[in-house]
Amino acid sequence: MTVRLCQWSDVLEGIPLRVVGPRSRQLAVFRVGEEVYVTEAACTHGRAWLTEGGQQGHHVHCPLHGGVFDVRTGASVSPPCTVALRTYRARVEAGFVNLAAEPTETR
Ligand code: FES
Repeated sequence: MTVRLCQWSDVLEGIPLRVVGPRSRQLAVFRVGEEVYVTEAACTHGRAWLTEGGQQGHHVHCPLHGGVFDVRTGASVSPPCTVALRTYRARVEAGFVNLAAEPTETR
């Protein structure tokens, strides 16, 4: 079953979009060029939405303490974060961002 998250046109490069996914999970949708990436929206270090931080290319910066994650893999690439983000397989289909089947969580 496909899970529709949002319209692709609502996702602007550099401005991640927070959406509600399956099981009421808060997810972050990122655009890098024509590629889409989806991660959990909450920072793994503290209580902050990554969608309120800045995005530069494949990196998202946490607004609270400045930790940085790679949205492609969820990996933490800058302290103080040490725990990776969950990532979800997604694709753009007919103008919508859809999660692939049952979300595959990478963590
Ligand atoms: Fe995100 Fe601390 S809450 S780096």
